[in-house]
Amino acid sequence: MSTIILGIESSCDDTSASVFRNDVILSNVVANQKVHEEYGGVVPELASRAHQQNIIPVVEKAIKDAGVDKNDIDAVAFTRGPGLMGSLLVGTSFAKGFAMANNIPLIEINHLHAHILAHFIKEDEDYNHHPEFPFLCLLVSGGNSQIVLVKDYLEMEVIGQTIDDAAGEAFDKCAKILGLPYPGGPLIDKLAKEGNPDAFVFNKPRIAEYDYSFSGLKTSVLYFLRDQLKQNPNFIEENKEDICASLQKTIISILMDKLVKASKDTGIKHIALAGGVSANSGLRESILAGEKKYKWKTFIPKFAYTTDNAAMVAINGFYKYIKQEFVGQEVAPYSRVQF
Ligand code: KG4
Repeated sequence: MSTIILGIESSCDDTSASVFRNDVILSNVVANQKVHEEYGGVVPELASRAHQQNIIPVVEKAIKDAGVDKNDIDAVAFTRGPGLMGSLLVGTSFAKGFAMANNIPLIEINHLHAHILAHFIKEDEDYNHHPEFPFLCLLVSGGNSQIVLVKDYLEMEVIGQTIDDAAGEAFDKCAKILGLPYPGGPLIDKLAKEGNPDAFVFNKPRIAEYDYSFSGLKTSVLYFLRDQLKQNPNFIEENKEDICASLQKTIISILMDKLVKASKDTGIKHIALAGGVSANSGLRESILAGEKKYKWKTFIPKFAYTTDNAAMVAINGFYKYIKQEFVGQEVAPYSRVQF
C-alpha cells in the first residue's frame, strides 16, 4: 500500500514543501528569502512575513510537481520546532488548516530529527545507500552542533552538543569579523581553498566528553586580528585566504576530535553528517578520510537535503505515519531545542 505525505518546513528563512510516496521523494520545492541579505542575518519579522507570502504557492507547486491530487494526500507533516517562532507559526498554522480541511492526520516533526532522517530519502525505489542503526550523526548547522546516537528512525540520543555557539555560527561570526557578507560559511570555505591552513594557529577549547564550544574561537580570532591590524592595517586583505584556511582547519578539527572520540568509545563505525555546515568541503573531506583512517563507513546527504528543506520533514513524517504518531489541532510550535 502506498502512503502520500506532504511535508512543510518553515523554521527559519526557507519556505519549503515536499511530497513523498512512502519513502520515495516525488517533489521538493524551496523558496529562499533574499530579503535578509542586506541585514547580515535573518530578521525574524521579515522571515515570517515572507513565509506568509510563499507558503501557498510553494505547496501548490510541490503538489503539482509530484503529479498527485490534493485529495490523494494521506497526512501532512510539519516542522514544529526548534526555530523562529513567527516562522514556525506560519508552517504550523498552514499544516493544521490543510489537515482539517482534508480530514487527514497531522504529524509534528522535530527539525533536528528531520536533518538526520534526510539520510533515508530515496530518489527511486532501488536507492539503498543509508547508514545502519545504530549510527553516529554529526549534526552541524547555523543553530546546532551535536553528536547524535541514532538508534532507530524515531529513537535518537544527543550524546554531545555545543554549550554556546553552533559551528555554523562560528563560521558566520568569524566571517563577519573579516568583513565578509552573511552567511559567511560558504565564503570562508571558498577562500580557504586558496589559503594555507597552517599559516595561523587559533586556540581549541577544552570541553568535557563529546560537547563543543565555539565562542572562544570567535574571541581568539577577534583579538588576533586586532593585534595584527595595529601593525598592518591591510592585514586582513593581504591574508584573507590564509586566515580562512586556518580558521576552517580549526573548526573542523574541533568537530572531528569529538566525533572520533565518540566513535572509538561506542565502537560505532557508521558515521553520518547532517545540517547546513555539511556543505563545507573541508569537513566532507575529513569525514571521508575517516573511511581509511578509522575504517568508518560514511554518509553525506546530497546538498539539497542538507540545508533546510521539506523533503527531510516528509520522510520523517512517513516513519511517524507508520507508527500512527499523530497530533491534534491543539499542537503549538516550540522555538527552543527539544530532543
Ligand atoms: O542547516 P542550515 O541551512 O540552517 C540553519 O541552521 O540556519 O545551516 C546554515 C549554516 C550557516 O551558518 C552557513 O554559514 C553554514 O550553514 N554553511 C557553511 C557552508 N554552507 C553553509 N558553513 C561552512 N562551509 C560551507 N560550505
